[in-house]
Amino acid sequence: RPVVFSGMQPSGDSLHLGNYLGALVNWVALQDDHDPIYCVVDLHAITVPQDPAVLHEATRRTAAQYLAAGVDPERATLFVQSHVLAHTELAWVLGTLTGFGEASRMTQFKDKSARYGAEATTVGLFTYPVLMASDILLYGTQLVPVGDDQRQHLELTRDLAARFNSRFGETFVVPEALIPKESARIYDLQEPNTKMSKSASSPNGLVNLMDDPKVIAKKIKSAVTDNEREVRYDPQAKPGIANLLDIYATVTGRTIPELEAEYDGRGYGDLKKDLAEVVVDRVAPIRARTLELMEDPAELDRLLAMGAEKAAERADRTLATVYERVGFLRRR
Ligand code: TYM
Repeated sequence: RPVVFSGMQPSGDSLHLGNYLGALVNWVALQDDHDPIYCVVDLHAITVPQDPAVLHEATRRTAAQYLAAGVDPERATLFVQSHVLAHTELAWVLGTLTGFGEASRMTQFKDKSARYGAEATTVGLFTYPVLMASDILLYGTQLVPVGDDQRQHLELTRDLAARFNSRFGETFVVPEALIPKESARIYDLQEPNTKMSKSASSPNGLVNLMDDPKVIAKKIKSAVTDNEREVRYDPQAKPGIANLLDIYATVTGRTIPELEAEYDGRGYGDLKKDLAEVVVDRVAPIRARTLELMEDPAELDRLLAMGAEKAAERADRTLATVYERVGFLRRR
């Protein structure tokens, strides 16, 4: 079975609709005929200023959200990144193969360092994509289901894998990104030219999976559109409507032309009302299940320990091969 690996950062806010539609939906779908490994990337989460108590809570909650969305701990390996030491160890080796200029070209680094300012721009934020490459390459990963914003990091991962292989001998599988068609980039509901993200400027633009269903409906109904009346898919001219149609199509599995036909001659109000309903129907049970799972932290920790053990066994094997290939003396 092809290995699938992916991860999300635990952060103060809950996962949002972009995380869910851009990645998590695919994680769940891939479980049947793949060997899936899903990680809560806490090491990545400390590359920007963070509050330890919040991170602690968010790490369990993120794992609970994976489960609530349908990740099955029987079929998938579910673990916390910092529990498997090989991630940071391989990252060190890969860092020595990464060009300074190459890392400097990462647009997420440029965006985040601009957002957080010079003071908060750390070496850890700079080497972030190298750690991500390590996550992926440790497991012989073939497929990485992510949103469009991770495309460049995946390219770097592929380059590093190929570079290591050509310098030290065939070691890593060169992975492919799996990026969805309609939901690769979900946009902020208030600023439909900006991607939906935790750092949204208005809370109304961001649908969190832990939002109260009434709040979700309200956010969707007040989404920014345009002053025409025609429901037509045109991301350039009508980014707000295109975003709503993308969300609608992904949640329901219906096609954009089908939806355009259904709302032909009807106003934006109808579209928003129906969309609010389908999103709430999908998200409310995930929220409820997450809250339930959070009531039993011991059980969550048990699942995560089980996952870490399985992951570490695989990761350690890859790391041992890497250490041998680069010429490290084996510890006896
Ligand atoms: P993160 O935590 O920022 O986001 C998690 C996933 O959600 C996707 N995503 C979106 N998709 C569509 N529309 C949006 N508005 C949107 N916002 C976020 C992201 O593309 C991602 O798939 N670097 C990664 C975490 C990571 C990782 C890995 C991923 C660390 N190691 C190894 C894959 C493999 C990140 O920060 O994702």
